Amino acid sequence: MTGRTAIILAGAALALPAAAQAAELNLICAADVVICERLTEEFGKTHPDISVNMVRMSSGEAYAKIRAESRNPQTDIWWGGTGDPHLQAAADELTTPYESPMQAELHDWALSQARVSGNRTIGVYSGVLGWGYNTEHFAAKGLKEPLCWADLLDPALKGEIQIADPNSSGTAYTALATLVQLMGEDEAFAYLKQLHANVAQYTKSGSAPVKAAARGEAGLGIVFMHDAVTQQVEGFPIKPVAPCEGTGYEIGSMSLIEGSANPDEAKIFYDWVLGAEVQSLMPEAGSYQIASNKAAKPSEHAIDPSAVKLIDYDFAEYGSAERRKHLLARWDAEIGGAASE
Ligand code: G6P
Repeated sequence: MTGRTAIILAGAALALPAAAQAAELNLICAADVVICERLTEEFGKTHPDISVNMVRMSSGEAYAKIRAESRNPQTDIWWGGTGDPHLQAAADELTTPYESPMQAELHDWALSQARVSGNRTIGVYSGVLGWGYNTEHFAAKGLKEPLCWADLLDPALKGEIQIADPNSSGTAYTALATLVQLMGEDEAFAYLKQLHANVAQYTKSGSAPVKAAARGEAGLGIVFMHDAVTQQVEGFPIKPVAPCEGTGYEIGSMSLIEGSANPDEAKIFYDWVLGAEVQSLMPEAGSYQIASNKAAKPSEHAIDPSAVKLIDYDFAEYGSAERRKHLLARWDAEIGGAASE
């Protein structure tokens, strides 16, 4: 071996341990893909030493993945998506308690998720349930402005409505739980059966229905109001509506995965994403939820929840495994089953 080769090999040997130790973070992001990509990019700028593998999925799918992998977790942190499946995962002890130093900066509604779960999950944003309808499409067809849940049962809306499947989508589960809390369970299922006659499609992702309405592929999408606002701000003829009878809301949440491979990196992301500066960036990615950090800059496009008739949504009850399983099984039997007939 020449002296030159020996030097090269020694250099390679020195470089190897460093490469093997490169820090990584496996993130499930359960909000809109645009904000998921933006957060991953921003985190990369401030923490270039940690490489992030981000997967975007809907809330119910994220829960199912984490549950399926519980013996050998492939995910370190789950950011976003509605709070109910995060609470169910907490009850199943699929997620791990963490008391972030950032808690002092958060709104009480965000901390309430931590209180009911023994710090296994925390609120990252909130959003009000409603719908968005295509004003041009409604005008062209001479349809009446849909202002109330009751209006969505109008037979003139046959085939005009889209909503997601509550098994995959936290948005649709929030709608199901909201109707149950507004009307009572049997009445809510009777309502959903009637609504089914007007539903053209049950989508996988929660925000897909209003994206379809924006493009004129549907008349109306039942979604979080901020998802309707996103389409409106992009210039589509979409009008967001808060239903007149009252409505529910989400506390989009975040959880660390029990037994994950990269717990330290996960905590670094967790503390970082609760910061005011990061949360103030969300509107730039078209995400108009209400931020959980009290100092985050509110967007001019955000829905003012005080102007909406909100129900006192029982997150602990509707995020409990028993309730969620029961409502989803009943939805499959009475509504989803009918969808595939
Ligand atoms: C959209 C909303 C989020 C919400 C999420 C739930 O991305 O902007 O606020 O948490 O939907 O997604 P899912 O597909 O589970 O309904």
